[in-house]
Amino acid sequence: MDRFSLVILAAGEGKRMKSNHSKVCHKLLNEPMIKWVYDAGKGAGISDVVTVVGHRREEVMQALGNTVKFAMQEEQLGTGHAVLSAEKYIDESSRYVMVLPGDAPLILSETLKKCMEYHIKNSNCATIITSILDNGSSYGRIIRDENGEVLKIVEAKDATKEELEVREINSGFYCFDKDELFRLLKELKPENSQGEYYLTDVIGLMKSGGKKVGAFVLDDPTQILGVNDRVQLYDAQKALQRRINEYHALSGVTIMDFDSTYIGKDVKIGKDTVIYPNTLIFGKTTIGEECAVGPNTVIEDCEIGDFVSVKMSNLIQSKIGNNTTVGPFAYLRPGSVIGSRCKVGDFVEIKNSTLGDGTKASHLTYIGDAKVGKNVNFGCGTVIVNYDGKKKYTTEICDDVFIGCNSNLISPVKINEGAYIAAGSTITDEVPKNNLAIARARQVNKANWVDRRKRD
Ligand code: UD1
Ligand code: CA
Repeated sequence: MDRFSLVILAAGEGKRMKSNHSKVCHKLLNEPMIKWVYDAGKGAGISDVVTVVGHRREEVMQALGNTVKFAMQEEQLGTGHAVLSAEKYIDESSRYVMVLPGDAPLILSETLKKCMEYHIKNSNCATIITSILDNGSSYGRIIRDENGEVLKIVEAKDATKEELEVREINSGFYCFDKDELFRLLKELKPENSQGEYYLTDVIGLMKSGGKKVGAFVLDDPTQILGVNDRVQLYDAQKALQRRINEYHALSGVTIMDFDSTYIGKDVKIGKDTVIYPNTLIFGKTTIGEECAVGPNTVIEDCEIGDFVSVKMSNLIQSKIGNNTTVGPFAYLRPGSVIGSRCKVGDFVEIKNSTLGDGTKASHLTYIGDAKVGKNVNFGCGTVIVNYDGKKKYTTEICDDVFIGCNSNLISPVKINEGAYIAAGSTITDEVPKNNLAIARARQVNKANWVDRRKRD
């Protein structure tokens, strides 16, 4: 659809959010609202995107990154004025403009695509996506003539009593003929209850100029849900959550409790994986087949293999091989690469470290900045002492090393293949291959010590 350009409106303040942040930067399933809208437009095949920013523009620009063009709307004088500020950034070769409000994150790419096709097929000058609601509340009303043709849009705040009873509402999503849109935007007058330049007034102007205006009526009103306050933010997030969970469930994932499972839109999960309650999975995460994830687990930007179990744990930017178990109560911080058949047990924290296949840290262990080989056993309470208060150091632990309980490995240090570390050791020097290292004071037993103490 290279003849389409997309304009996203995101300059408004969003007063009803009662927030220090831009409304369109509030997150749904950990993704800024504006990103959902942008992805829907992109998914519909539009590559030329202009976002109109104003209020808290730095935040909005940061949320979208530098892949889009930004138009500044210095003063928020209304949606019509906002679209007009995008004019000079739009690709000259475009013939059509799609306008999307930045505060309606539920719209689907397929819907936009269908609307674009409908717009072209009917040679419309404008096509409005509309829906039928029981209560039109604050949405603009679609006013049709006796033949059922769209005449104009009336804002709820300017509507008469009869107009307010109309149940067909304006979603705020439109396709326009570019030249006609910008010609008429320059003719708008802020003569309404809000003193704003309404984009919606363009429809009436097109109609009275003899142009063809159409409505693309959506059966599914959830797609048009706008977010103006935090109750609507909640409703919109719940709707997205339901949509995504249904998708995974129908693709072969068992989700025990839809309500307490939050899965981001780019997450991929293999079949026969079971997700237990209170689990949040976000970012670019992939989870393989036959895994058990949760309960009470947070996973962000991780790559997880097949037959993996993750219980009551927090995993960030990490990789986990097949048949590995994690948790309960493990914390994998960025850069943890865990092999296959590993065990990362309770109260184990791993950061920026690699664990070879079959390595086990079953309990109460810290592994930071370490390269660990295969089949290594970390005894309970092992600490890799990677920080001296100023600098971080690395540790190398080779294959088949056995580390006794409650050992400290002072980095930088290397433990060679097959070596054993006696429990309670504080290791400061390299341990050669197949050696036993004992680094603790010898035990002294003092005979009759208790009796003497009692006499004193
Ligand atoms: C608008 C429509 C209404 C429709 C509703 C759908 C108009 C006049 N009304 O009303 O018919 O039913 O959306 O959700 O268009 N914005 C700017 N600059 C401005 C004003 C707004 O960028 O000067 C942006 C806002 O940030 C927001 C979007 O435009 O993302 C919509 O503005 P908003 O004030 O929320 O319009 P509504 O009152 O919801
Ligand atoms: Ca709105």
